[in-house]
Amino acid sequence: MEKIVINGGKPLFGEVTVSGAKNAAVAIIPAVVLCDEPCRIENIPNISDVALIATILQEMGAVVRRVDKNTLDIDPRPINTYIATDEAVRGMRASYYLLGALLGRFHNAKVALPGGCNFGVRPIDQHLKGFQLMGAKNELINGAIIELTTEGSFHGARIYFDTVSVGSTINVMLAAVKAEGQTIIENAAREPHIVDLANFLNSMGANIRGAGTDTIKIRGVEYLRGVTYSIIPDQIEAGTYMAAAAATRGKITVRNITPRHLESISAKLREMGCDVEEYDEAVVVDATNRKLNRVNIKTMPHPGFPTDCQPQFVALLTTIKGTSIVNESVWDNRYQYVSELVRMGAKISVEGRLAIVEGGPLTAAPVKATDLRAGAAMIIAGLVAEGSTYISSISYIERGYSDVVTKFQALGADIKKIYVPDRRAAKRA
Ligand code: EPU
Repeated sequence: MEKIVINGGKPLFGEVTVSGAKNAAVAIIPAVVLCDEPCRIENIPNISDVALIATILQEMGAVVRRVDKNTLDIDPRPINTYIATDEAVRGMRASYYLLGALLGRFHNAKVALPGGCNFGVRPIDQHLKGFQLMGAKNELINGAIIELTTEGSFHGARIYFDTVSVGSTINVMLAAVKAEGQTIIENAAREPHIVDLANFLNSMGANIRGAGTDTIKIRGVEYLRGVTYSIIPDQIEAGTYMAAAAATRGKITVRNITPRHLESISAKLREMGCDVEEYDEAVVVDATNRKLNRVNIKTMPHPGFPTDCQPQFVALLTTIKGTSIVNESVWDNRYQYVSELVRMGAKISVEGRLAIVEGGPLTAAPVKATDLRAGAAMIIAGLVAEGSTYISSISYIERGYSDVVTKFQALGADIKKIYVPDRRAAKRA
């Protein structure tokens, strides 16, 4: 069993370089399925979710070659199945993008229902509504596999989403790129990775307009050519390091970022009293010698404050005197990690979608990562707390953060990964 151990109480100083965006990579790699030639994808983050989706494509017949740590060559032409039901598919949320990609290529798809981080019900009704309007019937097999079938035509449609959903917007975009006629998505999500996916598809010859607004128009094309494409920087990874700098009252430069994607995060840090300076591809966060102000936060779809930074900012708010109120408006149940922070002495009470955070000292304790961003929040709390914090279930963290331990070490953190023999497993054996 691997754990992360942190000896906290030291402010972070120095520079960190952000990797490619996880949530763009896990959409762009399945999107290659639609391409009629091989592609090279650069700036891929070195995380387990990416390794998993690449393996899934490989098992379906694609030729995948790792050029270096951050570059993959993928030849999707040998894929000859629209079935993706292996165990690996269940292991990650984003494997549901295979529904849109396989439907777009084969006009049929059979995909195991996704796993991934668990914070409450994660429905896919809007994805299925989109596919249905485009002419695909869906069937749920044994409660575990979705099968999409088309009889005759698979075509463009006008789709109004009942809720702003990143996954539904991406899935319908994938299905529509090669469908006959025009698809119009209304009430579309506007996250940076949606724009990145549209840029990738357009660079191959797709006809997508309006990505980044709430109306996206896609006219189907017949052929997509191979390209070399570099994934955008990870907005959430950047936001995590920015929160960590503020929580430890340090000063760091975050490199390889797009400042425009970080506006809601930078604005919140400034409201707290941090100095945030933006450059072309970097941002400097300075919280040294500051008495930060309490703030309220409401998570919203982009360009609002991202839900994927909510746990990290709750960890930061525990270091600020006074009462801060956080309103999680995207997910029903994204506070499972709060009980772990409470073990470290945090004063947080949860009432439905609200978390009421009372600033005060944190003390080290054994805690676990209950999901990916929750794990990042535990690291931030561990960096602040006096003593040694042991974090378990770190595979969640490694799903989404490249080289997280070495990056924090380079910022001066006393953090390392350790191997602890699992006594219970040894007893069972
Ligand atoms: N929703 C529905 N019906 C649907 C789809 C979504 O009701 O058919 C609801 C969800 O229950 C949720 C809201 O709509 O309340 C937003 O869900 P969305 O579809 O936008 O989320 P997602 O596509 O499943 C992606 C990210 C998440 C991130 C959310 C919101 C990926 C692989 N995952 O999930 O990222 O929290 O968008 O921004 O892109 C993470 O990186 O830690 C992470 C969980």
